[in-house]
Amino acid sequence: MHLEATRLAEPSQYAETVALLRFEGVSKHYATDGARVDALREITLSFQAGEFVSLAGPSGCGKSTLLNLAGAMDFPSSGTVSIDGVSTAALNDGALTRLRREKTGFVFQSFQLLQNLSVVENVELPLLLAGAPQARERALERLEWVELAGLADRLPHQLSGGQMQRAAIARALVNEPRILLADEPTGNLDTATGAVILALLRRIVDERGTLLLMATHSAEAAAASDRMVRLRDGRVEAPPAV
Ligand SMILES: Nc1ncnc2c1ncn2[C@@H]1O[C@H](COP(=O)(O)OP(=O)(O)O)[C@@H](O)[C@H]1O
Ligand SMILES: [Mg+2]
Repeated sequence: MHLEATRLAEPSQYAETVALLRFEGVSKHYATDGARVDALREITLSFQAGEFVSLAGPSGCGKSTLLNLAGAMDFPSSGTVSIDGVSTAALNDGALTRLRREKTGFVFQSFQLLQNLSVVENVELPLLLAGAPQARERALERLEWVELAGLADRLPHQLSGGQMQRAAIARALVNEPRILLADEPTGNLDTATGAVILALLRRIVDERGTLLLMATHSAEAAAASDRMVRLRDGRVEAPPAV
């Protein structure tokens, strides 16, 4: 009896029962000029490490809002978003900064590289901000991983769209986050280049065990995922009846 209780209290046992990322009864509303927008309504979802999940649904259905809450860039109006069992709303500023820096990475449709920094400088920036050692070396390793090492000294405008997105992915991965949040990552790319980026995202999930949450309009992108969550008017749509 005593032994059993001790075993259950071990951290490894605990980790198996706690979702990496969980939304529980999450609603988010915005108030603009007295009008209220319900961006998310009563969302309950759990996500585990090593899952590639697509968030589908029409423009305005709440995909970006959900990603922002998942990355603790914003907080629910009601309900709880928790990472490793800890509510993001309960964290103080220092803990939030660490969580954003160490556990999450963001990739955007428009890449959002700093135009006056070289590719490698963009990738090493999160490490420099974190005061991490060997920033240049680690940034170059990451660029090698996305097969962009030869372009490390270029400026972003000297890259193609697909190359810019690979650089942005290298930057998002440089802190080894367990959760990667991608907002329409293939939205500005042609189909063939989009497929290269989707294959790279798949590799990240499979080789690193990252949880990937990807908002997308594209059927091809959604098809690349393991699981699709469909949103409509801020709610999770029930899967079609079989
Ligand atoms: N910062 C904000 N202020 C006010 N309304 C917002 C804000 N962000 C999003 N919205 C509104 O919330 C709803 C969901 O938006 P969003 O999450 O961006 O959807 P999607 O990414 O699926 O297009 C939309 O009606 C949008 O106009
Ligand atoms: Mg959006």
